Amino acid sequence: MEERIKKAARTICQSSITIALTGAGISVESGIPDFRSSGGLWERFNPIEYGSIGAFKANPEKVWQMLREVSHLLDSARPNPAHRGLGRLQELGLLHTIITQNVDYLHQEGGATRVIEYHGNAKTLSCLWCDQRYNSDELGGQLPPKCSCGKVLKPDVVFFGEPIPLRALQESFELASTCKALLVLGTSGEVAPANTIPETAKRAGATIIEVNLEPTVLTNYLTDIFLQGKASEMVTELVKEVEIIIAENYENL
Ligand code: APR
Repeated sequence: MEERIKKAARTICQSSITIALTGAGISVESGIPDFRSSGGLWERFNPIEYGSIGAFKANPEKVWQMLREVSHLLDSARPNPAHRGLGRLQELGLLHTIITQNVDYLHQEGGATRVIEYHGNAKTLSCLWCDQRYNSDELGGQLPPKCSCGKVLKPDVVFFGEPIPLRALQESFELASTCKALLVLGTSGEVAPANTIPETAKRAGATIIEVNLEPTVLTNYLTDIFLQGKASEMVTELVKEVEIIIAENYENL
């Protein structure tokens, strides 16, 4: 594994544009369960009944039973070393943008400055009936939160059956088509269109570095360097190795 970490670190240091694609796995060590691992959210809540826009419109109070559990976890979650390590890579000018499927805002709280929220985020909520929009902290914790028109509000996260925000879609495709290295961390690669990002990057000639507890649908098909392990541990080792390379280069200047 050490050799793979060194190879990944060299790739990042030599890459003119490196981007990252993250999924729920990067936030598991912050206390937020992922979706498809055992004990994940979709094991306890059927995604068709709780995760689709049709389900929300039909019975918003029912969907808020699941959202209530998630929002309590989001309130108490803090960035873990994986979030902070990616923030450090951005600080070093070695990670152009993080494209995240997560809605927990932990990349920003972990120091990242360029984040594309591919599935929106839970910081704002909208009324599907009268289009009013609210910040989550102006709703006083009432669940389910209601609009002044009386209807139940929906968090501005992308439910199954909803489109990806157009700007996020376009910017992510543009970056995936031009990057030289792509870090894929904590995603099963099961959900489109986010899972087209690694393939787009590969086709453009990028090196794919994947961090995951276990192999995924991407590993044998697209991944060049597979770092198997916990995101917080792998990212910490990776950043440590990057900083050694930087220090050695300074000495050789
Ligand atoms: N470190 C690294 N990887 C981890 C860790 C960890 N500590 N814990 C879990 N993982 C891995 C799992 O092995 C799995 O491959 O993270 C991945 C999480 O996969 P999913 O649960 O499918 O989550 P994600 O890929 O983000 O799902 C994509 O699906 O339900 C929708 O909108 C939802 O954004 C989500 C999308």
